[in-house]
Amino acid sequence: MDQKKTYYITTPIYYPSGNMHIGHTYTTVAADAMTRFKRLTGYDAYFLTGTDEHGQKIERKAAEKGVTPQAYVDEIVANTKELWKLMEIEYDDFIRTTQERHEKVVQKIFRQFYEQGDIYKSAYEGLYCTPCESFWTPTQVVEKDGVKVCPDCGRPVEAMQEESYFFRMSKYQDWLIDYIETHPDFIQPAKRANEMLNNFLKPGLQDLCVSRTSFKWGVPVDFDDKHVVYVWIDALSNYITALGYGTDHDELFKKYWPADVHLVGKEIVRFHTIYWPIMLHALGLPLPKQVFAHGWLLFGNDKMSKSKGNVVYPQPIVARYGADALRYYLLREMPFGADGNYTNEAFLTRMNADLANDLGNLVSRTVAMIEKYFDGVLPAWTEAADPEVDAPLKEHCAALPALVEEQMNKLQYSQALAEIWKVIGECNKYIDLTQPWVLGKDEAKKDRLANVLLTLAECVRFVAVLIKPFMPQTPDRIFEQLGVTDDILKTWESLDSFGALPAGIKVCKGEALFPRIDIKKELEALNPDEKEEKKEAKAEKKAEKKEKKKAEIPEGCIAFDDFEKVKLRVARVVECERVEKSDKLLKFRLSLGDEERTVLSGIAKFHNPEDLIGKNLILLANLAPRKIMGIESQGMLLSAVAKNEDGSETLRLLTADPIMPAGAEIG
Ligand code: ME8
Repeated sequence: MDQKKTYYITTPIYYPSGNMHIGHTYTTVAADAMTRFKRLTGYDAYFLTGTDEHGQKIERKAAEKGVTPQAYVDEIVANTKELWKLMEIEYDDFIRTTQERHEKVVQKIFRQFYEQGDIYKSAYEGLYCTPCESFWTPTQVVEKDGVKVCPDCGRPVEAMQEESYFFRMSKYQDWLIDYIETHPDFIQPAKRANEMLNNFLKPGLQDLCVSRTSFKWGVPVDFDDKHVVYVWIDALSNYITALGYGTDHDELFKKYWPADVHLVGKEIVRFHTIYWPIMLHALGLPLPKQVFAHGWLLFGNDKMSKSKGNVVYPQPIVARYGADALRYYLLREMPFGADGNYTNEAFLTRMNADLANDLGNLVSRTVAMIEKYFDGVLPAWTEAADPEVDAPLKEHCAALPALVEEQMNKLQYSQALAEIWKVIGECNKYIDLTQPWVLGKDEAKKDRLANVLLTLAECVRFVAVLIKPFMPQTPDRIFEQLGVTDDILKTWESLDSFGALPAGIKVCKGEALFPRIDIKKELEALNPDEKEEKKEAKAEKKAEKKEKKKAEIPEGCIAFDDFEKVKLRVARVVECERVEKSDKLLKFRLSLGDEERTVLSGIAKFHNPEDLIGKNLILLANLAPRKIMGIESQGMLLSAVAKNEDGSETLRLLTADPIMPAGAEIG
């Protein structure tokens, strides 16, 4: 019997400490697209994802919420599965580390390691980062504002000591160095292999702490119940426990192990390319063929992460534009392996350019022209060829499956899509070149027109077959418009030769695949707060401008804004008397029309109190009140002072015209 070649692909199992965001979606979409591609090209593919549910952080989060850890993770796992469905992600298995099928085998593996001397008991001292669940050595932690912080997430670490079991990693160091050096495909991209060799392996591998006594939410060590298995033995084993390794039902394990590729984010490459291979080797198992470390989706310059709270969630994006548009963006925007930013603007721009313009227009123009010139029925191929114009496009399109496969075999999703879009671009140019609307006017050129439109329709069919792994929903919409109902015409094999599209099928113009959108409007709809933010930013800018203007004011001058702050008013003197025990102070009761003020003024030497009653004086009305000799003075009366030749002073209070009402503002 002709057995299909197998292909086993995994994602990391994610921490259900919060809902999954676009970063987790990125890896999972990539794994899904690869699975679909392998199936399309004839493989028996198996795709595993899941959740890593143990650990102190989950225990704490659940306690904060007042629920059991299991209830806490159950809810997040349900949301995760919903999200994967929304994203058209079709996994074969979803492993949860709290499942019995996993826990039992983890206990067995742990015991085996202990019994064969790979694990020993000792005490652990180190600096622990709770959000990352990582211990760090003093040389690894970073100092920030005098506080020791985690080198990964930048949050403070705590000193901890604990009785622990350790895995004797050092024993396998030389074997692993040799393995990595002799298997250049094992760690991809290759620069990650060098990082592992130079940063961790060659300087000397530290033994790994593999149990904890400080919390309970973990797989119990079955021969020492104070301990739970610590994260990495528990988490990494998922890739084999899910296949039934270590049980009587290990058919899947026998069939699919070793994995073809573990997809991981670059921050967990170390665990997958050092600890995991050593664990497998100690179990006498073959290593995965490849660990591929992809880059991060960034938010500004920061990695998006649940614990930092700077995340983008896919749901509102999918609700507006569909899963295919987001899947396309994630796989197309950044080369797999490199970091990239997610912004709504970049997403919408790409959607308009690649999906609405390039792909959408090609499909709608092709179908519309077949309707217009051939009553919607696909004509037969004719002899009327123009080899110079037709051959390059036909040859390019015929070669496309191989070009896509070559890129996919290197996990270069973005390049694979770029290859497909090159053909789409060429088709659009072909339309401009052949000008079907001119051919359509001349009955004698109908044969030529038939070939032009058939060439385009066949290219569209190729594209529809090839984009299916990346965009599972769109091809069926294209096939519907193209009138392709025969499933054979949707297969990889049908792309073996160009021209399989049969005459006589009826096209059917449908809705635009990806309607062109108004980016500005969509940005506002995706982020209603953004309008507010923009307003705030504008106000901030204005304030900055003001500040800048201020900075330009010459020494000794004040800005008009400053002067505007001074409130001067006409104050009518209601009472005026000397202050006891003071030869300087006069105490005024002043009317401002609608209010009265008490004000002290050090002018007793210059004015008789009785002379001032009924006068209109000028009051600095918004001076902060202050107490003088136990009396609160609520403003300051303005006066003019002059120095005399003999050194004495002449002083007179400033007055306002008597016709001005009390309280009148001065400005
Ligand atoms: O590390 N950009 O779980 P986790 C790209 N449980 N990918 C991202 C991302 C981002 N901003 N954020 C998350 C764990 N990811 C462990 C793994 S495996 C045996 C145990 C993706 O919830 C990426 O794949 O922190 C990354 O490696 C993974 O989610 C981390 O998920």
